[in-house]
Amino acid sequence: MVQGTVNWNTQLDKKWLQEYVDDWVAFYQKATEEGEVASYIPILAEANPNHLGIAIHGKNGMRICSGDVNTTFTIQSISKVISFMVACMERGVSYVLDRVDVEPTGEAFNSIMHLEMKSLNKPFNPFVNAGALTVTSMLEGKTSKEKLAPLLKLLEKIIGYRPKINQAVFKSENDTSARNRAIGYYLVETGFLESDLEVTLETYFKQCSIEVTVDDLARIGLILANDGEDPDSDEEIIPRQIARITKALMLTCGMYDASGKFATYVGIPAKSGVSGGIVAVAPPRVRNAPFPFIEGCGIGVFGPALESRGNSIAGMKLLKHIASQWDLSIF
Ligand code: DON
Repeated sequence: MVQGTVNWNTQLDKKWLQEYVDDWVAFYQKATEEGEVASYIPILAEANPNHLGIAIHGKNGMRICSGDVNTTFTIQSISKVISFMVACMERGVSYVLDRVDVEPTGEAFNSIMHLEMKSLNKPFNPFVNAGALTVTSMLEGKTSKEKLAPLLKLLEKIIGYRPKINQAVFKSENDTSARNRAIGYYLVETGFLESDLEVTLETYFKQCSIEVTVDDLARIGLILANDGEDPDSDEEIIPRQIARITKALMLTCGMYDASGKFATYVGIPAKSGVSGGIVAVAPPRVRNAPFPFIEGCGIGVFGPALESRGNSIAGMKLLKHIASQWDLSIF
């Protein structure tokens, strides 16, 4: 275990940390062979399954990154975190939570079965597709352009530049969207959708097609770790209550039907996407121990080879290792 009476902020300590992370990434890169890239959206199948990259951002510009960090990828389901926060900022938390629950499903992210099997008075949570489509339908605006603008603006505030929408991924997703359309029609029938179905689906597919890097995900994680504030400027980017509810949802529902295992064995809020991204949030620890990033950090991982639930297989293993080495668990 990494230990000693160091404060991990000097250049020397940073060099040690870098060496550890490089070793861990090289080790877990082998685990990419145990997974498969998503293929239900044809363009995602073109990703290199052996890629693995990580960025870790802390206070005072502390940044460690390793592996395939320059590859851009689409944010996919991690966008559900952003759309949920924007909907809460636009409509108010109680408006949103009156219409989408906060319970894990234990089912696949795009499951239809649970919508009918339980006597549902609202979709289970904002991170399964039924809940995410409902949240997207709540965003202000009549067109997908109007609905997406505040999402892109919030992301720009967090990551420092305006992200692009990958049109090829949007098209590929839109062309193979039968299951999301089925969920959408069910939501129309049950009266959950607040916007036109086509506008909601277009907005949802475009929000999933926003391009990011591991550094961008780490920035999102860092702001959430700090309850919505930028730890260096103290500027409030996301209201505290919304940041906290979002973290609770990430912990309980962020890794889909692997959320319980991730909470148990890794112990930090996280959200995955099918292109292989994971954003993880390590809040500041009060323990007076010589661990790195004791004041909290955000972690972005990219590894497109997925396990059966749609989470990056090597990314999850790498996060589990780092969380145990650096005592990141919130429990
Ligand atoms: O099929 C969809 O709804 C996707 N575009 C987003 C799915 C996703 O990232 C699920 N995550 N693991």
